[in-house]
Amino acid sequence: MDKIRIRGGKPLNGTIRIGGAKNAALPLMAACLLSDEPLVLSNVPHLADITTMANLLGQHGTQVSLEGHDAKEGHTGRVMSLTARDITSTTAPYDLVRRMRASVLVLGPLVAREGVATVSLPGGCAIGTRPVDIHLSGLEALGAEIEVESGYIRASAPQGLRGARYAFPKVSVGATENLLLAACLADGQTILENAAREPEITDLAECLIAMGAKITGVGSDTLVIEGVSKMHGAQHEIMPDRIEAGTFAMAVAIAGGEVLLEGARLSHIDAAMDQLRRTGTVVEGREGGIFVSRTGSEILAVDVETDPYPGFPTDLQAQFLALMTVANGASVVTETIFENRFMHVPELHRMGANITLQGRSALVRGVERLEGAPVMASDLRASASLVMAGLVAEGETEVRRIYHLDRGYERLEEKLQLVGADVERVEDTE
Ligand code: UD1
Repeated sequence: MDKIRIRGGKPLNGTIRIGGAKNAALPLMAACLLSDEPLVLSNVPHLADITTMANLLGQHGTQVSLEGHDAKEGHTGRVMSLTARDITSTTAPYDLVRRMRASVLVLGPLVAREGVATVSLPGGCAIGTRPVDIHLSGLEALGAEIEVESGYIRASAPQGLRGARYAFPKVSVGATENLLLAACLADGQTILENAAREPEITDLAECLIAMGAKITGVGSDTLVIEGVSKMHGAQHEIMPDRIEAGTFAMAVAIAGGEVLLEGARLSHIDAAMDQLRRTGTVVEGREGGIFVSRTGSEILAVDVETDPYPGFPTDLQAQFLALMTVANGASVVTETIFENRFMHVPELHRMGANITLQGRSALVRGVERLEGAPVMASDLRASASLVMAGLVAEGETEVRRIYHLDRGYERLEEKLQLVGADVERVEDTE
Protein backbone atom coordinates (compact mmCIF):
# COMPACT_ATOMS: atom_id res chain seq x y z
CA MET A 1 0.00 0.00 0.00
CA ASP A 2 1.19 3.55 -0.72
CA LYS A 3 1.13 6.76 1.26
CA ILE A 4 1.53 10.38 0.20
CA ARG A 5 4.26 12.50 1.76
CA ILE A 6 3.94 16.28 1.60
CA ARG A 7 6.39 18.94 2.75
CA GLY A 8 4.32 22.07 3.23
CA GLY A 9 4.98 25.69 2.38
CA LYS A 10 5.26 25.72 -1.42
CA PRO A 11 2.82 27.85 -3.45
CA LEU A 12 1.16 26.34 -6.54
CA ASN A 13 1.79 27.93 -9.94
CA GLY A 14 1.00 26.80 -13.47
CA THR A 15 -1.68 24.74 -15.18
CA ILE A 16 -3.55 21.65 -13.98
CA ARG A 17 -5.49 19.65 -16.53
CA ILE A 18 -8.88 18.49 -15.15
CA GLY A 19 -9.91 14.95 -16.09
CA GLY A 20 -13.27 13.40 -16.95
CA ALA A 21 -15.78 13.25 -14.10
CA LYS A 22 -15.88 9.99 -12.15
CA ASN A 23 -19.45 10.60 -10.97
CA ALA A 24 -20.61 11.19 -14.54
CA ALA A 25 -18.61 8.26 -15.96
CA LEU A 26 -20.12 5.61 -13.65
CA PRO A 27 -23.82 6.08 -14.61
CA LEU A 28 -22.79 6.66 -18.24
CA MET A 29 -21.03 3.30 -18.26
CA ALA A 30 -24.15 1.64 -16.79
CA ALA A 31 -26.17 3.13 -19.68
CA CYS A 32 -24.50 0.65 -22.05
CA LEU A 33 -26.76 -2.05 -20.57
CA LEU A 34 -29.78 -0.44 -22.28
CA SER A 35 -28.61 -1.26 -25.81
CA ASP A 36 -27.06 -4.14 -27.73
CA GLU A 37 -24.96 -1.66 -29.73
CA PRO A 38 -21.63 -0.06 -28.72
CA LEU A 39 -21.59 2.95 -26.40
CA VAL A 40 -18.31 4.82 -26.90
CA LEU A 41 -17.30 7.15 -24.07
CA SER A 42 -14.38 9.55 -24.37
CA ASN A 43 -12.54 11.54 -21.68
CA VAL A 44 -12.68 8.51 -19.36
CA PRO A 45 -10.59 9.09 -16.21
CA HIS A 46 -8.07 6.51 -15.00
CA LEU A 47 -9.48 5.59 -11.59
CA ALA A 48 -10.06 2.51 -9.46
CA ASP A 49 -13.86 3.05 -9.44
CA ILE A 50 -13.94 3.03 -13.25
CA THR A 51 -12.14 -0.33 -13.27
CA THR A 52 -14.61 -1.69 -10.70
CA MET A 53 -17.58 -0.63 -12.87
CA ALA A 54 -15.92 -2.07 -16.02
CA ASN A 55 -15.44 -5.40 -14.20
CA LEU A 56 -19.06 -5.40 -13.05
CA LEU A 57 -20.37 -4.66 -16.56
CA GLY A 58 -18.06 -7.34 -17.97
CA GLN A 59 -19.58 -9.77 -15.52
CA HIS A 60 -23.03 -9.00 -17.01
CA GLY A 61 -21.69 -9.86 -20.47
CA THR A 62 -20.54 -6.43 -21.68
CA GLN A 63 -17.49 -6.31 -23.91
CA VAL A 64 -15.29 -3.49 -22.68
CA SER A 65 -12.30 -2.10 -24.56
CA LEU A 66 -10.12 0.85 -23.72
CA GLU A 67 -7.93 2.90 -26.03
CA GLY A 68 -6.36 6.28 -26.44
CA HIS A 69 -3.42 6.54 -24.07
CA ASP A 70 -1.72 9.79 -24.79
CA ALA A 71 1.88 9.83 -23.65
CA LYS A 72 1.86 13.57 -23.04
CA GLU A 73 -1.38 13.58 -21.10
CA GLY A 74 -0.65 10.57 -18.92
CA HIS A 75 -3.78 8.50 -18.54
CA THR A 76 -6.40 11.17 -19.15
CA GLY A 77 -8.77 11.30 -22.06
CA ARG A 78 -9.09 7.59 -22.69
CA VAL A 79 -11.81 6.18 -24.90
CA MET A 80 -13.90 3.27 -23.63
CA SER A 81 -16.15 1.19 -25.81
CA LEU A 82 -18.89 -0.82 -24.07
CA THR A 83 -21.06 -3.31 -25.95
CA ALA A 84 -23.74 -5.24 -24.08
CA ARG A 85 -24.86 -7.33 -27.06
CA ASP A 86 -26.23 -10.10 -24.84
CA ILE A 87 -26.76 -9.89 -21.10
CA THR A 88 -25.20 -13.13 -19.88
CA SER A 89 -25.89 -12.56 -16.17
CA THR A 90 -28.42 -10.33 -14.41
CA THR A 91 -26.71 -10.72 -11.03
CA ALA A 92 -24.35 -8.15 -9.53
CA PRO A 93 -22.44 -10.09 -6.86
CA TYR A 94 -21.52 -8.85 -3.39
CA ASP A 95 -17.81 -9.07 -4.08
CA LEU A 96 -17.99 -6.31 -6.73
CA VAL A 97 -20.85 -4.23 -5.27
CA ARG A 98 -19.26 -3.91 -1.81
CA ARG A 99 -16.26 -2.14 -3.37
CA MET A 100 -18.36 0.64 -4.79
CA ARG A 101 -21.84 1.83 -3.92
CA ALA A 102 -22.46 3.16 -7.43
CA SER A 103 -22.65 -0.50 -8.59
CA VAL A 104 -26.34 -0.29 -7.67
CA LEU A 105 -26.77 1.79 -10.87
CA VAL A 106 -26.94 -1.43 -12.91
CA LEU A 107 -30.24 -2.30 -11.21
CA GLY A 108 -32.48 0.07 -13.23
CA PRO A 109 -31.09 -0.67 -16.72
CA LEU A 110 -30.93 -4.44 -16.11
CA VAL A 111 -34.52 -4.77 -14.95
CA ALA A 112 -35.67 -2.45 -17.76
CA ARG A 113 -33.97 -4.53 -20.45
CA GLU A 114 -34.12 -8.07 -19.05
CA GLY A 115 -37.18 -7.93 -16.78
CA VAL A 116 -35.12 -9.12 -13.85
CA ALA A 117 -32.04 -8.07 -11.87
CA THR A 118 -30.41 -9.30 -8.69
CA VAL A 119 -28.00 -6.85 -7.08
CA SER A 120 -26.22 -7.19 -3.77
CA LEU A 121 -27.17 -4.58 -1.17
CA PRO A 122 -24.26 -2.11 -1.11
CA GLY A 123 -24.14 -1.99 2.70
CA GLY A 124 -22.84 0.87 4.81
CA CYS A 125 -19.91 3.07 4.09
CA ALA A 126 -17.71 5.36 6.09
CA ILE A 127 -19.71 8.55 5.48
CA GLY A 128 -23.05 7.21 6.68
CA THR A 129 -25.61 4.47 6.30
CA ARG A 130 -26.59 5.54 2.74
CA PRO A 131 -29.62 3.31 2.15
CA VAL A 132 -31.04 2.53 -1.33
CA ASP A 133 -34.72 2.65 -0.31
CA ILE A 134 -35.49 5.48 -2.75
CA HIS A 135 -33.97 3.56 -5.69
CA LEU A 136 -36.24 0.65 -4.77
CA SER A 137 -39.47 2.56 -4.18
CA GLY A 138 -38.95 4.37 -7.51
CA LEU A 139 -38.55 1.09 -9.38
CA GLU A 140 -41.66 -0.23 -7.61
CA ALA A 141 -43.54 2.81 -8.91
CA LEU A 142 -42.48 1.71 -12.43
CA GLY A 143 -44.05 -1.69 -11.77
CA ALA A 144 -41.05 -3.73 -10.59
CA GLU A 145 -41.57 -6.22 -7.79
CA ILE A 146 -38.82 -5.90 -5.22
CA GLU A 147 -37.70 -8.51 -2.74
CA VAL A 148 -34.75 -8.20 -0.42
CA GLU A 149 -33.36 -11.54 0.69
CA SER A 150 -30.02 -12.79 2.00
CA GLY A 151 -28.35 -9.45 1.33
CA TYR A 152 -29.56 -9.26 -2.28
CA ILE A 153 -32.15 -7.03 -3.97
CA ARG A 154 -34.20 -8.90 -6.54
CA ALA A 155 -36.21 -6.72 -8.91
CA SER A 156 -38.53 -8.32 -11.42
CA ALA A 157 -40.88 -7.01 -14.08
CA PRO A 158 -41.48 -9.94 -16.43
CA GLN A 159 -43.84 -7.89 -18.64
CA GLY A 160 -41.46 -4.92 -18.64
CA LEU A 161 -41.56 -1.65 -16.67
CA ARG A 162 -44.51 0.76 -17.00
CA GLY A 163 -44.18 4.53 -17.10
CA ALA A 164 -45.47 6.30 -13.96
CA ARG A 165 -45.35 9.53 -12.02
CA TYR A 166 -42.87 9.36 -9.13
CA ALA A 167 -41.85 12.13 -6.73
CA PHE A 168 -38.54 11.48 -4.94
CA PRO A 169 -39.15 11.87 -1.18
CA LYS A 170 -35.61 13.26 -0.85
CA VAL A 171 -33.20 14.55 -3.50
CA SER A 172 -30.92 11.66 -4.47
CA VAL A 173 -28.35 11.73 -7.25
CA GLY A 174 -28.02 7.95 -7.57
CA ALA A 175 -31.77 7.23 -7.37
CA THR A 176 -32.49 9.88 -10.03
CA GLU A 177 -29.89 8.25 -12.30
CA ASN A 178 -31.20 4.73 -11.70
CA LEU A 179 -34.80 5.74 -12.46
CA LEU A 180 -33.82 7.82 -15.48
CA LEU A 181 -31.94 4.82 -16.90
CA ALA A 182 -34.84 2.47 -16.19
CA ALA A 183 -37.58 4.79 -17.54
CA CYS A 184 -35.95 5.00 -21.00
CA LEU A 185 -37.19 1.48 -21.83
CA ALA A 186 -40.44 1.57 -19.80
CA ASP A 187 -43.79 1.40 -21.57
CA GLY A 188 -45.30 4.90 -21.73
CA GLN A 189 -44.52 8.17 -19.99
CA THR A 190 -42.57 8.56 -16.73
CA ILE A 191 -42.51 11.83 -14.80
CA LEU A 192 -39.81 12.13 -12.16
CA GLU A 193 -40.44 14.97 -9.70
CA ASN A 194 -38.02 16.41 -7.14
CA ALA A 195 -35.23 14.89 -9.24
CA ALA A 196 -31.60 15.76 -8.51
CA ARG A 197 -30.22 18.41 -10.90
CA GLU A 198 -26.48 17.77 -10.67
CA PRO A 199 -24.56 18.42 -13.92
CA GLU A 200 -23.66 14.70 -13.97
CA ILE A 201 -27.38 13.93 -14.41
CA THR A 202 -27.59 16.35 -17.31
CA ASP A 203 -24.55 14.63 -18.84
CA LEU A 204 -26.27 11.24 -18.46
CA ALA A 205 -29.53 12.54 -19.96
CA GLU A 206 -27.68 13.97 -22.96
CA CYS A 207 -25.99 10.65 -23.61
CA LEU A 208 -29.28 8.76 -23.25
CA ILE A 209 -30.89 11.14 -25.76
CA ALA A 210 -28.02 10.39 -28.17
CA MET A 211 -28.86 6.68 -27.64
CA GLY A 212 -32.46 7.27 -28.71
CA ALA A 213 -34.17 8.09 -25.40
CA LYS A 214 -36.91 10.73 -25.31
CA ILE A 215 -36.28 12.97 -22.31
CA THR A 216 -37.42 16.54 -21.61
CA GLY A 217 -36.88 18.81 -18.63
CA VAL A 218 -33.13 18.09 -18.60
CA GLY A 219 -31.41 20.29 -16.00
CA SER A 220 -34.66 20.87 -14.06
CA ASP A 221 -36.11 18.97 -11.09
CA THR A 222 -38.85 17.41 -13.26
CA LEU A 223 -37.73 14.92 -15.87
CA VAL A 224 -40.26 13.59 -18.39
CA ILE A 225 -39.32 10.40 -20.20
CA GLU A 226 -41.34 8.85 -23.05
CA GLY A 227 -40.31 5.21 -23.07
CA VAL A 228 -38.92 3.70 -26.28
CA SER A 229 -38.79 0.00 -27.18
CA LYS A 230 -35.14 0.02 -28.25
CA MET A 231 -32.05 2.15 -27.68
CA HIS A 232 -29.06 2.29 -30.00
CA GLY A 233 -25.32 2.91 -29.77
CA ALA A 234 -23.82 6.40 -29.38
CA GLN A 235 -20.65 8.34 -28.75
CA HIS A 236 -20.39 10.70 -25.80
CA GLU A 237 -17.67 12.83 -24.21
CA ILE A 238 -17.72 12.72 -20.41
CA MET A 239 -17.96 16.15 -18.73
CA PRO A 240 -14.94 17.52 -16.79
CA ASP A 241 -14.73 16.56 -13.12
CA ARG A 242 -16.13 19.54 -11.19
CA ILE A 243 -15.14 18.06 -7.82
CA GLU A 244 -11.54 17.57 -8.94
CA ALA A 245 -11.57 21.18 -10.19
CA GLY A 246 -13.07 22.45 -6.92
CA THR A 247 -10.50 20.50 -4.90
CA PHE A 248 -7.56 22.03 -6.80
CA ALA A 249 -9.14 25.51 -6.56
CA MET A 250 -9.21 25.10 -2.78
CA ALA A 251 -5.66 23.73 -2.83
CA VAL A 252 -4.52 26.96 -4.52
CA ALA A 253 -6.45 28.98 -1.94
CA ILE A 254 -4.73 27.22 0.96
CA ALA A 255 -1.20 27.05 -0.51
CA GLY A 256 -1.24 30.38 -2.40
CA GLY A 257 -0.22 30.87 -6.03
CA GLU A 258 -1.85 31.15 -9.45
CA VAL A 259 -3.21 28.17 -11.35
CA LEU A 260 -5.32 27.63 -14.46
CA LEU A 261 -7.62 24.62 -14.06
CA GLU A 262 -7.66 23.64 -17.70
CA GLY A 263 -10.91 22.23 -19.04
CA ALA A 264 -12.95 22.99 -15.87
CA ARG A 265 -16.31 24.76 -16.20
CA LEU A 266 -17.17 27.49 -13.71
CA SER A 267 -20.93 27.09 -14.27
CA HIS A 268 -20.71 23.57 -12.75
CA ILE A 269 -19.40 24.79 -9.39
CA ASP A 270 -20.70 28.33 -9.08
CA ALA A 271 -21.88 27.99 -5.46
CA ALA A 272 -18.55 26.63 -4.22
CA MET A 273 -16.53 29.17 -6.19
CA ASP A 274 -18.68 32.05 -4.87
CA GLN A 275 -17.83 30.98 -1.34
CA LEU A 276 -14.16 30.61 -2.27
CA ARG A 277 -14.13 34.18 -3.60
CA ARG A 278 -15.49 35.36 -0.26
CA THR A 279 -12.38 33.90 1.39
CA GLY A 280 -10.31 36.42 -0.58
CA THR A 281 -9.33 34.08 -3.43
CA VAL A 282 -9.58 35.26 -7.03
CA VAL A 283 -11.68 32.88 -9.16
CA GLU A 284 -12.37 33.71 -12.81
CA GLY A 285 -14.02 31.74 -15.59
CA ARG A 286 -11.67 31.78 -18.59
CA GLU A 287 -12.13 30.37 -22.06
CA GLY A 288 -9.88 27.37 -21.38
CA GLY A 289 -10.97 26.73 -17.80
CA ILE A 290 -11.03 28.36 -14.36
CA PHE A 291 -8.26 30.68 -13.16
CA VAL A 292 -7.61 30.66 -9.40
CA SER A 293 -5.21 32.93 -7.56
CA ARG A 294 -4.34 33.86 -4.01
CA THR A 295 -1.27 35.99 -3.60
CA GLY A 296 -0.25 37.13 -0.17
CA SER A 297 -3.69 38.03 1.13
CA GLU A 298 -5.03 36.41 4.29
CA ILE A 299 -7.76 33.76 4.09
CA LEU A 300 -11.07 35.16 5.33
CA ALA A 301 -13.42 32.95 7.39
CA VAL A 302 -16.66 32.07 5.56
CA ASP A 303 -19.59 29.87 6.67
CA VAL A 304 -20.82 27.17 4.30
CA GLU A 305 -23.69 24.69 4.27
CA THR A 306 -23.84 21.76 1.86
CA ASP A 307 -26.95 21.31 -0.28
CA PRO A 308 -28.06 19.42 -3.38
CA TYR A 309 -27.10 21.12 -6.67
CA PRO A 310 -27.01 24.06 -7.32
CA GLY A 311 -25.95 24.41 -3.66
CA PHE A 312 -22.49 23.90 -2.18
CA PRO A 313 -21.52 20.25 -2.93
CA THR A 314 -21.00 17.86 -0.03
CA ASP A 315 -18.06 16.44 -2.02
CA LEU A 316 -16.18 19.73 -1.45
CA GLN A 317 -17.06 20.14 2.24
CA ALA A 318 -13.94 18.47 3.65
CA GLN A 319 -11.65 20.50 1.40
CA PHE A 320 -13.35 23.81 2.34
CA LEU A 321 -13.15 22.86 6.00
CA ALA A 322 -9.38 22.27 5.61
CA LEU A 323 -9.08 25.77 4.14
CA MET A 324 -11.01 27.25 7.07
CA THR A 325 -8.56 25.73 9.59
CA VAL A 326 -6.02 28.40 8.59
CA ALA A 327 -8.48 31.27 8.00
CA ASN A 328 -8.34 34.51 9.93
CA GLY A 329 -11.36 34.02 12.21
CA ALA A 330 -14.05 31.47 12.94
CA SER A 331 -16.46 29.78 10.54
CA VAL A 332 -19.25 27.22 10.67
CA VAL A 333 -19.27 24.37 8.16
CA THR A 334 -22.63 22.54 8.08
CA GLU A 335 -23.19 19.17 6.41
CA THR A 336 -26.81 18.49 5.45
CA ILE A 337 -26.45 15.55 3.03
CA PHE A 338 -24.55 12.83 4.94
CA GLU A 339 -24.77 12.26 8.68
CA ASN A 340 -21.20 11.17 9.32
CA ARG A 341 -19.04 13.19 7.01
CA PHE A 342 -16.60 14.76 9.48
CA MET A 343 -14.06 11.97 9.81
CA HIS A 344 -11.33 14.29 8.57
CA VAL A 345 -11.84 16.41 11.71
CA PRO A 346 -9.91 14.22 14.20
CA GLU A 347 -7.08 13.90 11.66
CA LEU A 348 -6.96 17.69 11.15
CA HIS A 349 -6.80 18.03 14.96
CA ARG A 350 -3.60 15.99 14.85
CA MET A 351 -2.16 18.71 12.61
CA GLY A 352 -3.08 21.46 15.09
CA ALA A 353 -6.49 22.54 13.76
CA ASN A 354 -9.07 23.94 16.19
CA ILE A 355 -12.46 22.43 15.33
CA THR A 356 -15.48 21.76 17.52
CA LEU A 357 -18.16 19.41 16.22
CA GLN A 358 -21.76 20.19 17.17
CA GLY A 359 -24.11 17.74 15.51
CA ARG A 360 -24.05 18.35 11.80
CA SER A 361 -21.93 21.49 12.09
CA ALA A 362 -18.24 22.09 12.63
CA LEU A 363 -17.12 25.29 14.30
CA VAL A 364 -13.67 26.01 12.90
CA ARG A 365 -11.46 28.56 14.62
CA GLY A 366 -8.63 29.47 12.29
CA VAL A 367 -5.11 28.83 13.62
CA GLU A 368 -1.94 30.60 12.54
CA ARG A 369 -0.24 27.45 11.38
CA LEU A 370 -0.82 23.72 10.96
CA GLU A 371 1.93 21.26 11.75
CA GLY A 372 2.80 18.25 9.60
CA ALA A 373 1.81 14.89 11.11
CA PRO A 374 1.07 11.32 10.07
CA VAL A 375 -2.65 11.13 9.29
CA MET A 376 -5.09 8.54 8.00
CA ALA A 377 -7.45 8.91 5.06
CA SER A 378 -10.98 7.74 5.87
CA ASP A 379 -12.90 8.39 2.64
CA LEU A 380 -12.29 9.84 -0.76
CA ARG A 381 -12.86 13.56 -0.21
CA ALA A 382 -11.55 13.50 3.37
CA SER A 383 -8.26 12.19 1.96
CA ALA A 384 -8.03 15.17 -0.38
CA SER A 385 -8.60 17.56 2.52
CA LEU A 386 -5.67 16.03 4.40
CA VAL A 387 -3.36 16.44 1.40
CA MET A 388 -4.48 20.08 1.17
CA ALA A 389 -3.77 20.67 4.85
CA GLY A 390 -0.33 19.13 4.25
CA LEU A 391 0.38 21.71 1.52
CA VAL A 392 0.28 24.53 4.05
CA ALA A 393 1.48 22.71 7.20
CA GLU A 394 4.95 23.26 8.60
CA GLY A 395 7.15 20.21 8.10
CA GLU A 396 6.17 16.82 6.80
CA THR A 397 2.69 15.27 6.54
CA GLU A 398 2.12 11.66 5.60
CA VAL A 399 -1.35 10.62 4.46
CA ARG A 400 -1.93 6.89 4.83
CA ARG A 401 -4.58 4.61 3.28
CA ILE A 402 -4.60 6.56 0.06
CA TYR A 403 -6.45 3.83 -1.82
CA HIS A 404 -9.44 6.05 -1.01
CA LEU A 405 -7.82 8.86 -3.03
CA ASP A 406 -7.08 6.59 -5.97
CA ARG A 407 -10.78 5.73 -6.24
CA GLY A 408 -11.59 9.27 -7.29
CA TYR A 409 -8.51 11.40 -8.08
CA GLU A 410 -6.37 10.74 -11.11
CA ARG A 411 -2.66 11.08 -10.24
CA LEU A 412 -3.36 13.73 -7.59
CA GLU A 413 0.25 13.89 -6.42
CA GLU A 414 1.63 14.16 -9.98
CA LYS A 415 -0.75 17.00 -10.80
CA LEU A 416 0.30 18.84 -7.62
CA GLN A 417 4.01 18.22 -8.34
CA LEU A 418 3.59 19.78 -11.78
CA VAL A 419 2.51 23.08 -10.20
CA GLY A 420 5.33 23.12 -7.65
CA ALA A 421 4.12 21.21 -4.58
CA ASP A 422 6.65 19.12 -2.69
CA VAL A 423 4.63 15.92 -2.68
CA GLU A 424 5.43 12.30 -3.48
CA ARG A 425 3.89 8.85 -3.35
CA VAL A 426 5.95 6.40 -1.34
CA GLU A 427 5.47 2.81 -0.31
CA ASP A 428 3.93 2.42 3.14
CA THR A 429 5.85 -0.41 4.75
CA GLU A 430 4.03 -0.29 8.11
C1 UD1 B 1 -23.67 10.77 -5.23
C2 UD1 B 1 -22.20 10.92 -5.51
C3 UD1 B 1 -21.45 11.32 -4.24
C4 UD1 B 1 -22.08 12.58 -3.64
C5 UD1 B 1 -23.59 12.41 -3.47
C6 UD1 B 1 -24.29 13.70 -3.02
C7 UD1 B 1 -21.80 9.35 -7.31
C8 UD1 B 1 -21.20 8.06 -7.75
N1 UD1 B 1 -21.70 9.66 -6.01
O1 UD1 B 1 -23.82 9.74 -4.26
O2 UD1 B 1 -20.09 11.56 -4.59
O3 UD1 B 1 -21.50 12.82 -2.39
O4 UD1 B 1 -24.19 12.01 -4.72
O5 UD1 B 1 -24.03 14.73 -3.91
O6 UD1 B 1 -22.34 10.10 -8.10
N2 UD1 B 1 -30.47 8.41 0.38
C9 UD1 B 1 -31.47 7.69 0.99
N3 UD1 B 1 -32.06 6.65 0.29
C10 UD1 B 1 -31.68 6.35 -0.99
C11 UD1 B 1 -30.65 7.12 -1.61
C12 UD1 B 1 -30.08 8.14 -0.88
O7 UD1 B 1 -31.82 7.93 2.15
O8 UD1 B 1 -32.24 5.41 -1.57
C13 UD1 B 1 -29.83 9.53 1.15
C14 UD1 B 1 -28.33 9.30 1.36
O9 UD1 B 1 -28.06 8.51 2.47
C15 UD1 B 1 -27.84 10.73 1.51
C16 UD1 B 1 -28.76 11.51 0.57
O10 UD1 B 1 -29.90 10.69 0.36
O11 UD1 B 1 -28.06 11.16 2.84
C17 UD1 B 1 -28.17 11.88 -0.77
O12 UD1 B 1 -27.58 10.73 -1.33
P1 UD1 B 1 -27.44 10.53 -2.92
O13 UD1 B 1 -27.68 11.83 -3.59
O14 UD1 B 1 -28.27 9.37 -3.32
O15 UD1 B 1 -25.91 10.15 -3.05
P2 UD1 B 1 -25.24 9.08 -4.00
O16 UD1 B 1 -25.99 9.01 -5.28
O17 UD1 B 1 -25.00 7.83 -3.24
